[in-house]
Amino acid sequence: MESLARSDRSDPGTHLAARRLELHPFGVMVGPVGHLAEERERLWSLQWSNFDVEPHSATIGAEILGLNLCTQLDDLVVAELREALNAYKVLFFRDQPLTAAQHVAFARRFGELEVHPFLQSNAEFPELVRFEKTSETGGYENGWHSDVTWRECPSLGSVLHAIEVPRSGGDTLFADMGAAYDGLSDELRSELEGSIAVHDYLQAFGHGVPKDQRETMRKQYPQVHHPVVRTHPETGRKSLFVNRFFTTGIVGMEDAAAKALIGRLAREAETVEYQCRFQWQADSVAFWDNRAVQHYASSDYWPHRRVMERATIIGDRPH
Ligand code: SIN
Repeated sequence: MESLARSDRSDPGTHLAARRLELHPFGVMVGPVGHLAEERERLWSLQWSNFDVEPHSATIGAEILGLNLCTQLDDLVVAELREALNAYKVLFFRDQPLTAAQHVAFARRFGELEVHPFLQSNAEFPELVRFEKTSETGGYENGWHSDVTWRECPSLGSVLHAIEVPRSGGDTLFADMGAAYDGLSDELRSELEGSIAVHDYLQAFGHGVPKDQRETMRKQYPQVHHPVVRTHPETGRKSLFVNRFFTTGIVGMEDAAAKALIGRLAREAETVEYQCRFQWQADSVAFWDNRAVQHYASSDYWPHRRVMERATIIGDRPH
């Protein structure tokens, strides 16, 4: 590791194309995040037949152009969208005035949909979680997380449709947890091998469950165990799979040490180079892969209204 304090006058980045410098005395690393280069070049080289693609950030996010999600898409288009999701990890679409039925129908093309037991839903379609934020209801989704990791089979992906957005603010940020895993030291990566984390809905949703229903809910949704590093079932890519909303411990690890490790790994999502940020307009849609990314909804628009609906596709058991 080199220090940023140098006696000569050359650019501190000279000869450091793929290495980083420690910014003393804070222990902060600066410099090129070189391990992203291979994935970024791969994404730039991809060709698509049924739509155009504008990549967003280095390894995550792409806007899909030329599709109308309100219509019944051809199977070939759906298959190619699935490939694009695996590649870019989150897909963005503009100007998609979906009805609730069309939203559900589009998401169903990628798998069975879940019904969320703790969140408010669309009055007609229980498969659509409704996030209706107002001066009375604050947005609390501003913590990095992957959806429903407290389930035995957490989600494959989520399709979020913006119904009403504030004039500014209310962006959603996404972080590539595969890039986060790849950026860890070899030492930490081997320390994590075989580690199993405990996930529990109570940590984030416990306060909303009435006392007399807690026992029933606990039986229905017991704590679950998932690998700290999961392997994507379609791409084979490894990624960090712990988050501060739902991960409560590490099997066989003392509580304080487990919390410290979860916090250390969760912080990786905060690396700006692993992220992309989406500015919503009414009728924008984001479709993200919960097996590969975490997300964070910026809660900077109170007391204004922000109304979104989310369909969540059931995934498989992480391995
Ligand atoms: C969520 O956490 O799924 C909600 C994201 C958002 O409202 O932007």
